[in-house]
Amino acid sequence: MIIYRSRVLDTPDDPFTGGCLRSDDDAGIVVQDGVIVDRGDFRAVAGRHPAAEIHDLRDGVLLPGMVDTHVHYPQVRAIGGLGMPLLDWLQKCALPEECELADPEYARVVAREFLTGLTSAGTTSALVFGSHFADAVDILFSESDRVGARVTAGLVTSDRNLPEPLLSTPERSYDEGRKLAERWHGHRRLRYAVTPRFSYSTTPEMLASGAALMQDVPGLWFTSHINENPAEIAAVIDQFPGARTYLDTYHRHGLVHERSVLAHNAHPTDTELALLASTGAAVAHCPTSNSALASGSFPLRRHLAHGVRVALGSDVGAGSGFSLFKEGLQAYFMQQLLMSDGVPLTAAHLLHLATRAGALALGLDEVGDLSVGRQFDAILVRPSAGQPLDVCLRRAESADNALAKIFSLATPSDVARVWIGGDEIAA
Ligand code: GUN
Ligand code: ZN
Repeated sequence: MIIYRSRVLDTPDDPFTGGCLRSDDDAGIVVQDGVIVDRGDFRAVAGRHPAAEIHDLRDGVLLPGMVDTHVHYPQVRAIGGLGMPLLDWLQKCALPEECELADPEYARVVAREFLTGLTSAGTTSALVFGSHFADAVDILFSESDRVGARVTAGLVTSDRNLPEPLLSTPERSYDEGRKLAERWHGHRRLRYAVTPRFSYSTTPEMLASGAALMQDVPGLWFTSHINENPAEIAAVIDQFPGARTYLDTYHRHGLVHERSVLAHNAHPTDTELALLASTGAAVAHCPTSNSALASGSFPLRRHLAHGVRVALGSDVGAGSGFSLFKEGLQAYFMQQLLMSDGVPLTAAHLLHLATRAGALALGLDEVGDLSVGRQFDAILVRPSAGQPLDVCLRRAESADNALAKIFSLATPSDVARVWIGGDEIAA
């Protein structure tokens, strides 16, 4: 049994529905077998557990581990392709790199780079777009397992409109996906997600094969892209003659439900928002990607008004890095720029979007805040002495202000320590 003694910030109560930041200046968090079994004022907690080992983290701020609800494993090396809209960026930057993962040796190196990127940014759980190549997805799972990351991922499927090496067939995708799901879904911290790349690159038969896999292996997740860019939306509607909306292309196959996470949704109709809300599907908002590709401003106000669940995604490699601090800050900027159409976000909103909202979107009730009963997935933010974040944290006049400084200034180099399920990960 260990007591972690630290300043702790988290958001167990949703700030979008009246909750506020929980702040404890000198907390004791008691962890046994990876689970938080007690929490409170340090002195009281230490009195209740006199035999426990004490780990003093008062030189930093302890936060819940971040939850990234949309990130692409084969795109680590594609980060930084600026100046193009989505379809050009895919063709010039992302897809040529994704073809390289046909080579398992290359895929293993990239998987390690990917997991380093994720964990060193303080991300402890992620819904990951895998690769079009089954061996590369298998490698992602085995590397995630080795590191101990909480990863949900799957084989990316496509059967049209992509470079030939990335194409498959509905039958082969089903067979490869089934093998991967049977091997990895529910293995320790890993789960499988059916992952058609986007409707533009899939036929109805490919979407049906994903739906069949979900039917045949209970409890799988579903993820894809939606309503990211106006040219993409027009192309999708053009290719699915019966579909009234982009969401319809997935919904008609039974792929939209409470285990579905759709990335972007920058240009939804009200009908789609109503359907997302009524089915319980979640949306991954990817602010740096939407900015980098000029995809559009995320209509957060409309999502909230319809009751659609929203969390944050880094969307590496269209997004500009793994840090959900950066994504939170960019989400804030974009809502500010929307003026009266935007939602004024506080630092507590940003932390919630980056942690507990993501956990709930991924059905990981056991993480996302540092309450009793949760897994100890946590990060210690500890800037180097004299750095602007260090100076600012010492001068913060409130917990909300300290958190705003963290979202403004923190980078992966400020994430000093990372725990997943009580295990410390090399950050
Ligand atoms: N739509 C289909 N594939 C992708 C991708 O790799 N990145 C983004 N941002 N959108 C996509
Ligand atoms: Zn994406």
